[in-house]
Amino acid sequence: MTYHSPVLLKESIEGLNLKPDGVYVDVTFGGGGHSKEILKFLKNGRLYSFDQDHDATANNIESSNFKLIKANFRFLKNFLKLEGIEKIDGVIADLGVSSHQFDTAARGFSLRFDSELDMRMNIDSNLNAKEIINNYSEEQLANMFYIYGDITQSRKLAKQIVNARKEQNILTTTELILIAENLSPVKKRNQFLARVFQAIRIEVNDEINALKDMLNSATKLLNPGGRIVVISYHSLEDKIVKNLFKKGNTDGVVEKDFFGNISKVFNQINKNVIVPSSDECTFNNRATSAKMRVAEKIAYVKK
Ligand SMILES: C[S@@+](CC[C@H](N)C(=O)[O-])C[C@H]1O[C@@H](n2cnc3c(N)ncnc32)[C@H](O)[C@@H]1O
Repeated sequence: MTYHSPVLLKESIEGLNLKPDGVYVDVTFGGGGHSKEILKFLKNGRLYSFDQDHDATANNIESSNFKLIKANFRFLKNFLKLEGIEKIDGVIADLGVSSHQFDTAARGFSLRFDSELDMRMNIDSNLNAKEIINNYSEEQLANMFYIYGDITQSRKLAKQIVNARKEQNILTTTELILIAENLSPVKKRNQFLARVFQAIRIEVNDEINALKDMLNSATKLLNPGGRIVVISYHSLEDKIVKNLFKKGNTDGVVEKDFFGNISKVFNQINKNVIVPSSDECTFNNRATSAKMRVAEKIAYVKK
């Protein structure tokens, strides 16, 4: 079984506008599909890739231009500093989980398997899905489902979970599905449950805060003219990326200079999101929800 088929490979590599001597970072190494392609273009340049999942380290690439760092990308700046890197020419992020993570039953990411509630990308991290489902307050659960899963019946779902766990702890994906599925709209069971699982996964891995931290560090690290390419798979992520590229910060706050001009940090290379071709979506089901944005750093950002 392949570990992961890279999405929007050609388009993302073009977006990076690689220089043979540049310093690049792939913050989501996974199966190394994007990293391998970047390395083909480098001569004296360097590529540093990050992944927080131990399984990804099995895909390490033997190359003198390459180093794989097993860490959360939110610590990008610190780990690069350890390598003596203060400035970079490009960064690529292909967000979310890999096919390997999704298709490995024991990881608990997929509603297709009966497995323990886990969903950690980094198995050394303390917080897992079981912990959240059995210990979060009803309000915390409702907020999580509403904000991260866009679930309109989030309060009802949280109540059902809290009532069920009074009887006994909820330990498996199947037990959770049995509690949640009666709230799904007719004929949309799987889409509804996928959003329930997505919300828990985002919370377990603190994905939104990690993304903001990484984008803020990357913004500071990029040289003027450096490129940032982000492939996202749901609107919450895409909104954060769009905010950064259009308004210069991940929260979308419009900042003006002394003269009232909007402080621009990036030039968007593509005004609209880039999506995979229908051919790619046919071959790779995961590509269907992918949206890519590319921007070029134009200004120096104060530390
Ligand atoms: C969609 S896959 C990337 C696939 C990769 N582009 C390829 O071609 O194989 C996302 C990967 O990023 C990793 N990841 C997600 N969030 C991360 C984070 N905050 N820090 C480090 N790695 C992360 C996941 O563990 C997963 O392996």
